[in-house]
Amino acid sequence: MSIIGAPLTRVDGRLKVTGAAKYTAEFQIPSLAYGVVVESTVPSGRILNIDTDKAEHASGVIAVLTPHNAPKLPGAEKRISVLQDDQIYYNGQPIAVVVAESLHQAQYAASLIHARYQANPSKLDFEAGFPTSYPGSHNGEPGDAGWGDTTAGLAQAAVKIEESYTTPIQHHNPMEPHATIAQWEGDKLTVHDATQAVTSRQEYLAKMFGIPAENIRVIALFVGGGFGCKGQTWSHVVLTAMAAKQTNRPVKLAMERPQMFGSVGARPRTHQRLSLGATREGKLTAIRHEVHANTSVIEDYLESSAFATRVMYECPNVATIHRLVPMNLGTPTFMRAPGVATGTYALEVAMDELAYKLKMDPLQLRLLNYTEVDPGTKNPFTEKNLRECYKQASERFGWAKRTPDPGSMRDGSQLIGWGMATETYPARGLPASALVRFQPDGRVLVASGTQEIGNGIYTIMTQVAAETLGVSPAIIDVKIGDTTLPKAPISAGSMSTVSVMPAVQAAAMQARERWIALAVSDSQSPVFGVSSDQVDIQDGRIFQKSSPGKAESFVALMGRQSNQPIEGNASLKPTLDHKKFAAHSFGAVFAEVAVDPNIGVVRVRRVVAVFDVGKIMNQKTAQSQFIGGIVWGISLALFEDSHVDPRLGRFTNANLAEYLVPVNADIPEIEVTALDIPDMKLDPVGARGIGEIGITGTGAAVANAIYHATGKRVRDLPITPDKLL
Ligand code: MOS
Repeated sequence: MSIIGAPLTRVDGRLKVTGAAKYTAEFQIPSLAYGVVVESTVPSGRILNIDTDKAEHASGVIAVLTPHNAPKLPGAEKRISVLQDDQIYYNGQPIAVVVAESLHQAQYAASLIHARYQANPSKLDFEAGFPTSYPGSHNGEPGDAGWGDTTAGLAQAAVKIEESYTTPIQHHNPMEPHATIAQWEGDKLTVHDATQAVTSRQEYLAKMFGIPAENIRVIALFVGGGFGCKGQTWSHVVLTAMAAKQTNRPVKLAMERPQMFGSVGARPRTHQRLSLGATREGKLTAIRHEVHANTSVIEDYLESSAFATRVMYECPNVATIHRLVPMNLGTPTFMRAPGVATGTYALEVAMDELAYKLKMDPLQLRLLNYTEVDPGTKNPFTEKNLRECYKQASERFGWAKRTPDPGSMRDGSQLIGWGMATETYPARGLPASALVRFQPDGRVLVASGTQEIGNGIYTIMTQVAAETLGVSPAIIDVKIGDTTLPKAPISAGSMSTVSVMPAVQAAAMQARERWIALAVSDSQSPVFGVSSDQVDIQDGRIFQKSSPGKAESFVALMGRQSNQPIEGNASLKPTLDHKKFAAHSFGAVFAEVAVDPNIGVVRVRRVVAVFDVGKIMNQKTAQSQFIGGIVWGISLALFEDSHVDPRLGRFTNANLAEYLVPVNADIPEIEVTALDIPDMKLDPVGARGIGEIGITGTGAAVANAIYHATGKRVRDLPITPDKLL
């Protein structure tokens, strides 16, 4: 039986539910001091003066750092606010750090700090920024791309949809807020950080403080959710290290929930103009997708909403256009399925609108425009089985029983709606390395500097190593989240499995071969002198295939070899040529909603989704990832919305009472399956990454179901009751 793919319970599950898993802010260090960030209260301007007098004299205060006294940092740059100058670019920008003996002393002293500003005019009107918006790129890919001639394609269309769709700013709000502990010993820095990327933290801090990366150790054993906001290094991380250095004390700094809405990223607001043209029969003749999304005035982050439009459907004329709208807000960043979550909402609602205009079933419209190749380049996909997803998901959902007219399905007083959409997310790996080592105590160490952000990586590393080595998962100890381990990439972009698992597998294969090589040349081994291809390992014991009764564990061998290490080290780079192949995951999602016509409340009743995401590493943790994504898709459609005060640029619902996220009562039965077809062209374990695809398409499926229920097409997310009445 294969261990890879089995629904192994999380190996760190017990640690997590008993509280034994330590998250960054839970580490206690002798003589620890506490830092609190003070934020600006204007969106744009200059600090004239910061009155720190009262704070400095408050009890327990060790230091107050402001732009007036903060040390200059060699790597300082405009993108983060580390007290290098008096400029204010957004409301909520860090302007001071208070360090005190206790958290409460630091919080109290922080409340005593008052700044006076010279206010500048601020950019807080999103639409007003469109005329001066400018192009950008996302992960090095240009924001503007396409093929054919969309003007001609739209002109020849018999049926057209031209609509605008908008999505609000959202904030990630992982359960664990951002937190950092920094401790200096001479010019050596140790940092515990709630991060999706220990290595990039290390590199960034090295640059910032002008010291070698080897002098910095970054640790993140468990991360309580990241979703993108813990990818970049934000101000508070550097400020904590700066404060620790200035006070010569280890400093712990945790952001408070309201501070999660400001200097640590957000999903930007989008305005998406979608033009679809089709023949009378429903064949697409043109897609034009123009996106305006906000960024900050200090750094460009592009929400790549139209990227998915480049791979979804066969269409001779496609234009995808992105424009950045700088605003006096904190810089936005990657948030679960960055670009694709918001972009598939717009595209897949537009496709639904087109289906209605054509009087065609929405699923039929997708099948009619199905593409077997990457539509822009005509390159083959590494693997694509989306047709099968549509088939299985629609059958399980019972789509054939849908009556197409809006308002035609009812349950008592409730209006019932059924909607569907296509899901997609690109697949890619990054260089990664891993170590696998047999230990004389009978256990096996598997190590890589990746991060556990809830994705289950401890567990699937265990599975890949156990299966490759031929040992029980129970004897494996996984170590991750530390820059002293072999380097691994950021845990983001659904890339962890694709990147790290091949390295774990290769290191395990090496370790296995070393064990066999040592054993066949050890005169006391049961496989002494046996040709290595006649040797097998099962359940942690080595034996000659022809006499499995004579077996021995690696502990016995190591004992005779004075415990010399048996280990494998692998450092791998992805081999797929993305210029020759397109690598994307796909899925189909179907949703049922009930709308109360009197009060406009929407209840999602069920969701059925089928994914084509390559080989599944663990059925149980994969389910979790898919469901988490779908829950967030429902949230995108119905709940999340960060409100900006139009004069002050501050978020007015910066708390979990007013920033709505779904609770259990909002979430229905979610039925997800994966085809589990390995993608062996992408990577040697055949996986394609699953963390983000669930949120894509789901917002549209819910929005389309609401239209089917009510006949109201809401193109402005979230779809709140007021918009349906
Ligand atoms: Mo993800 S938004 O790439 O952490």
